[in-house]
Amino acid sequence: MGEVEAHSTISAGIKNMTEATTINRPAAAAQTAPLLNVRNIEVVYDKVILVLRGLSLEVPKGAIVALLGANGAGKSTTLKAISGLLKTEDGEVIRGEILFDGERINGIDPDKIVRRGIFQVMEGRRIIADMTSIENLKLGAFTRTDKEIADDIDMVFRYFPRLKERTGLAGYLSGGEQQMLAIGRALMARPKVILMDEPSMGLSPLLVKEVFSIIKEINRDLGVTILLVEQNARAALSVASHGYIMEQGKVVLDGTAGELRDNEDVKEFYLGGAGDQRKSFKNLKSFKRRKRWL
Ligand SMILES: Nc1ncnc2c1ncn2[C@@H]1O[C@H](COP(=O)(O)OP(=O)(O)OP(=O)(O)O)[C@@H](O)[C@H]1O
Ligand SMILES: [Mg+2]
Repeated sequence: MGEVEAHSTISAGIKNMTEATTINRPAAAAQTAPLLNVRNIEVVYDKVILVLRGLSLEVPKGAIVALLGANGAGKSTTLKAISGLLKTEDGEVIRGEILFDGERINGIDPDKIVRRGIFQVMEGRRIIADMTSIENLKLGAFTRTDKEIADDIDMVFRYFPRLKERTGLAGYLSGGEQQMLAIGRALMARPKVILMDEPSMGLSPLLVKEVFSIIKEINRDLGVTILLVEQNARAALSVASHGYIMEQGKVVLDGTAGELRDNEDVKEFYLGGAGDQRKSFKNLKSFKRRKRWL
């Protein structure tokens, strides 16, 4: 789907969008070059702290891809490398490359990356507490000059009806509502790709279900490609078509969501609630590290 077509589809509202769905199915997209292609990147913070050590992943157009891993694995760093936000934390991609639609984007300023169509929903929501929902949503449209911003605010309210009812300051929204607002703000940029950092964080199981089913709808209706970082592997693999598992700055396993769900090691360490007791995935004897990226 072309950019113009995608945008008119968004503003046409969710009711008329079912036709667009089939065009963007991951299966069809997988045959072409990935929309987002991260190739063997190394990232350092403060010039010295090496955090990503040759990380590679691919996100096909129209897909939801999950990036899973324990605390400190480097998931957020990966998203910030893609969105350019690393720069704001004195981080840098020192090796490898990040291709978006075939063009290299590492080193580009974050606002220019937003203009190209990649929008990151940061961990911990980061909405502006002393603004209303509508004001927060308008912030998401900062790159736009068209006249359809009001239509898109209505569209966000159709996905998240409870946001419309809460007319006060966003700081008084519940955790789940703030997460919805953060996702809605991303939609306001009319992105091609949304990078989501732990949308399940701090939400009750019921709300996780609700938010993830809306994430799925957004992907299906609008054709927005989603790279989804999660510690909640079960929730992420319920909506993703493909997943990557990372440890200590590298991908240690990847596969279709079904393959990962059925993988005994993934079950034990990421789906079984082993919690803090979990051993290092890469030290498992049964685990065969894939070499294809190296
Ligand atoms: N701004 C920074 N400066 C220096 N080191 C950082 C910075 N941000 C992250 N790190 C380090 O990089 C590593 C990876 O952090 P990152 O936040 O990417 O992990 P994560 O997988 O997102 O973890 P979590 O699940 O806890 O969010 C950690 O060791 C962290 O301490
Ligand atoms: Mg993180």
